[in-house]
Amino acid sequence: MTVTDDRILDLQPVSGRIGVKVVAPDLDRLVDDEVARAELHRALLDHHLVVLPGLYPTPEQHVAMASAFGDPVVPEDHLPKHPDYPLVCRFDSAVGYKADKWHTDGTFRDVVPSVAVLTMRTSPATGGDTVWANCCAAYDDLSNGMKRLIDGRKALHDQGPDAKAVHPVVVVHPDTGLPILFVNDIFTRGIMNLPPEESNAILPFLIRHVSRPEFTYRHSWAEGDVVVWDNRSTQHYALFDFDGQRVVERVHVAGVPMEAYRIESEVSGGDSATEGPW
Ligand SMILES: [Fe+2]
Repeated sequence: MTVTDDRILDLQPVSGRIGVKVVAPDLDRLVDDEVARAELHRALLDHHLVVLPGLYPTPEQHVAMASAFGDPVVPEDHLPKHPDYPLVCRFDSAVGYKADKWHTDGTFRDVVPSVAVLTMRTSPATGGDTVWANCCAAYDDLSNGMKRLIDGRKALHDQGPDAKAVHPVVVVHPDTGLPILFVNDIFTRGIMNLPPEESNAILPFLIRHVSRPEFTYRHSWAEGDVVVWDNRSTQHYALFDFDGQRVVERVHVAGVPMEAYRIESEVSGGDSATEGPW
């Protein structure tokens, strides 16, 4: 029997636990072809991150691609914008912008962006890579004992007086239903309703755990590359290890509120068949 594969996008894994690359992506189809756009969205949900090399989108095409995942949103007031396209953030190293700590964008708000679409406009000759981590894989690899310890906990995320939110430590992905370990180094300040000594021990462990190399993909940018990431199920870190200028442009897509993930039905009662060798 001949199995036909009608997929438009040719996908290749870029690491063991996160990310795929689209081979020879067709920009026009990603802007106009709803079947191709639906495949791109599915690839993002399945793999958390999609690399689209050498795409060189115009700002209009960049926004149009982002709309494959939902409604593009106007950036926060304090963020630097493209002079002509208010939906596009422009981060230019020449004016001092850095993101060299692990984070998920915008967790100091009750609702975080669902997706980010980033394109490299000016790349330094060497360095300036970005690393992403799969926070679903990070949750999966916790011991059952640790999963029980953080079950139902909430954490404070804080970026200033008008930028605070409380999120479950483990949230449910709104589209896939997968549990996500949802604490990060830049914005998460503490686990609530725990003695500070316990929060101060557990939170740094969780933040360190997310960034284990096994959960990550590191992208060495070329100008014109586009990388799309799921901003619920991943964290990222932009390396500030370069000389020269680095300019990236980003469009965020609107998110939805996320619920806590609870484990009672899976591992209540202690040691189950899923217990690991800990
Ligand atoms: Fe970021």
